[in-house]
Amino acid sequence: MSRSTDWQLAQKHELDIWEMTSKSTWRILSELFESSELQSFIESKLGDIAVDGKKILEIGIGPLGIGWMGLFGSKDKKFNIAIEPLPVLTVETGLFGLDDFIKGLQNRVTVISSKGEDLGFPRENFDIVVCNDVIDHVRDYQSVLKEAKKVLKKGGLFIFSVNVFSVFGKFKWNNYTRTRYADTANVLCHPHSFTYSTINKVLNTHGFRILHSNKADFPVLKKFFGKSKKARFLCTK
Ligand SMILES: C[S@@+](CC[C@H](N)C(=O)[O-])C[C@H]1O[C@@H](n2cnc3c(N)ncnc32)[C@H](O)[C@@H]1O
Repeated sequence: MSRSTDWQLAQKHELDIWEMTSKSTWRILSELFESSELQSFIESKLGDIAVDGKKILEIGIGPLGIGWMGLFGSKDKKFNIAIEPLPVLTVETGLFGLDDFIKGLQNRVTVISSKGEDLGFPRENFDIVVCNDVIDHVRDYQSVLKEAKKVLKKGGLFIFSVNVFSVFGKFKWNNYTRTRYADTANVLCHPHSFTYSTINKVLNTHGFRILHSNKADFPVLKKFFGKSKKARFLCTK
């Protein structure tokens, strides 16, 4: 199968997962919690980043259409631009108040149907670009990062996060899990795998200047044998 067909199949599974999420109270709440964790990381490193009036792009915001920017972006929808290849879903948990609350957050974001490999925005267009938990899912992560760097203004902020493996975890994923569980959504939806060190290097290679990261969460032993977890970076160019 070609890379593009693989990606389309993965996206079908991805949509199934998000359709389930859109009907589940606890899944919705954990999505909101994950975005809050990213915000806590940002605040711990940069304090209040004053987003109002800043042009923000979120790449692969997810079919809830909320991501980070629905909660923490600009108050003005026209400054919160997101791209996502999958359709935005209506949330129907049935829990009193929650569905309307989510609708309110979705209304704060302008979602465009597109892919990160070809954003189609002019150069140096955004003050902030967010790419959270996306590049292990895309067809071509090098192109996505190239595009992210292109559309970010000089001196702008790139908020980046991806799940990474330990060295042993990545070895196991590539040499056992990917074959043993080849047809599962988990394997199909994650065509790329990184360790903290490899993603750090990739960001440097693309010319991002890393301002802050959660490097402290990856001491030597955990880098080699720990469980997979989020690597977070705040970069500029
Ligand atoms: C794990 S979800 C993360 C969604 C969201 N960023 C969040 O943190 O909740 C991965 C997302 O990447 C999107 N995605 C997959 N391939 C993509 C591509 N080529 N360009 C942009 N987004 C893509 C998927 O559709 C999915 O919404």
